[in-house]
Amino acid sequence: MKKLLITRVLPAPVVEAARARFDVTLRDTAAGLTEAEATAALLTYDAILPTLGDSFTVAAFAAAGAPRARILGNFGVGYNHIDAKAARAVGVAVSNTPGVLTDATADLGMALLLAAARRVGEGERILRGGGWHGWTPTQMLGTHVTGKTVGIVGMGRIGQAVARRCHFGFDMGVVYYNRSDKAVGFPARRIETLEGLMGAADFVVVCVPGGAETRHLIDAKALAAMKPTGIFVNIARGDVVDETALTEALAKRQFAGAGLDVYEREPLVPEALMALENVVLLPHLGSATMDTRIAMGMRALENIIAWDEGRAPPHLVN
Ligand code: NAP
Ligand code: GLV
Repeated sequence: MKKLLITRVLPAPVVEAARARFDVTLRDTAAGLTEAEATAALLTYDAILPTLGDSFTVAAFAAAGAPRARILGNFGVGYNHIDAKAARAVGVAVSNTPGVLTDATADLGMALLLAAARRVGEGERILRGGGWHGWTPTQMLGTHVTGKTVGIVGMGRIGQAVARRCHFGFDMGVVYYNRSDKAVGFPARRIETLEGLMGAADFVVVCVPGGAETRHLIDAKALAAMKPTGIFVNIARGDVVDETALTEALAKRQFAGAGLDVYEREPLVPEALMALENVVLLPHLGSATMDTRIAMGMRALENIIAWDEGRAPPHLVN
């Protein structure tokens, strides 16, 4: 049996399915693999099922030299924690789990959009803190959602799923900023510049992959283009946004509010961000439903099993 390292505890059916085929080592901690641990894993196991937070960097591959591992079957669609090019250079295949988490992540994007617009976190804190003294017509007025315009940054699977929910569920106009044109089954207008998109939308939802190409794509300049009534949502990766610039913009109430699922240095969330009332903060819950996490695990295994059987992993990224 080949040796498989699973770097976090996964739902039981996935672990059972993995144990039926492989000699499994299961890491029972929330902390990701450090670079040194990633190197050690590359030298020790035939296959690895990693996830976000594990540091499979250029340096980790360089230190491993000629690794024993032949595949990283990533749990998750985003793989910016793996240098896929460095992996390929030493003959390590990298795969991901696209599609199965699209709906769950888009649903969470809508939860953040609605929560930030209607001040849900703030309201709950007031109520639980004993600060609610009765209904009044002017209490906690939020931002109207239905009929407004959503701007999607990154119109891929998740971006389109958010746009679809906004169009069909909330009668919203859709504009998007993306590398290429997208043909979707509902009206959606591509805007050529990021600032143009940020200024045209009432709600901006970020759905691009993380990594060097998109690092700080949303900077102070892009944020300055938002409408004063705008709401900003990030369900992509923390480092797509300049977190310091975002915190400053929210503190100055440059726009109405934000909803965030991801952060630049997870699990660290800056105190300055946590001190603000006009931002809803979630601990990277995008794909966190049991159905989705089982589907992701099975998809990651499907890739590793294909490699084990000498077939091409169906969701290879390098
Ligand atoms: P996807 O289908 O590959 O979509 C990514 C989209 O971003 C594509 O349309 C792509 O354009 C566009 N894009 C890439 N680089 C760009 C750039 N520099 N400028 C403008 N557009 C760019 O991926 P997905 O399945 O929707 O997932 C997107 C990301 O969401 C993942 O990579 C992951 O980081 C994140 N995510 C987060 C959670 C969570 O828990 N919060 C869960 C799942 C995923 P083209 O089509 O032209 O290539
Ligand atoms: C989660 O963030 C993923 O990329 O799947």
